[in-house]
Amino acid sequence: MTKLLVANWKMNKNGKECQDFLDTFMAKYSGQRAAWIAPQSLYVKLVINSGIMAGLQNCSEFVSGAYTGEVSAKTFKEMGGHFVILGHSERRQYFQETSKSLNAKVKTALKEGLKVVYCVGETLPERDSHQTLLIIGDQLHQGLNDMSEANAENLIIAYEPVWAIGTGKTASPAQAQEVHAFIRDELTKKFPAFGQKIKILYGGSVKPDNVEELLGQKDIDGGLVGGASLKAQDFLALCGDK
Ligand code: 13P
Repeated sequence: MTKLLVANWKMNKNGKECQDFLDTFMAKYSGQRAAWIAPQSLYVKLVINSGIMAGLQNCSEFVSGAYTGEVSAKTFKEMGGHFVILGHSERRQYFQETSKSLNAKVKTALKEGLKVVYCVGETLPERDSHQTLLIIGDQLHQGLNDMSEANAENLIIAYEPVWAIGTGKTASPAQAQEVHAFIRDELTKKFPAFGQKIKILYGGSVKPDNVEELLGQKDIDGGLVGGASLKAQDFLALCGDK
């Protein structure tokens, strides 16, 4: 499976900074690993125009209509967008999103033809009380409830332990692999035809100096990257292009 690195720029970078990054990145990017970028939604067109797969960091569960402030998956697809990140822990923590409410967004985005990077992950107290797999299982089952198997080829899962995001603490490759193997099993039970093919990304302090060991794990198919995706040189290194 080709490894996939997804840049989640969160609410960082103005237009000039986006364009400078894209120019530097595209001059050296070889394509040996797939690279996708989710900038602030205001700048998705810059990413689309650069030829890189472009994503949103959230979208509406509704397709169109009187939903002030929302962003439509259908419109994004029509303008040339490719994917949406759903269920990031920051959205769960600050914007009251739950696996149940995310289920509607997942189904809408898939129906409109976008790829979905659905995020799951446990907090530190949940890990310390040995609830990690229970929590991840619930997040998977509720978030993907009632999803048609035909859409599973457009699904990507990102495992991001909340305690490893932006903290400099990475799950050890063995800790990550244990959860990824569990996710793989759950996906294979739910989607017998596609479970083995769904990419499972790891996120949480992925950096050039730990990426190779993480990507060397059997069920880690790539990374969802925050901080280290903001510098073109670092993201190039993650993509295997020094
Ligand atoms: P960091 O790579 O900065 O830890 O962020 C991870 C993340 O939240 C990506 O979605």
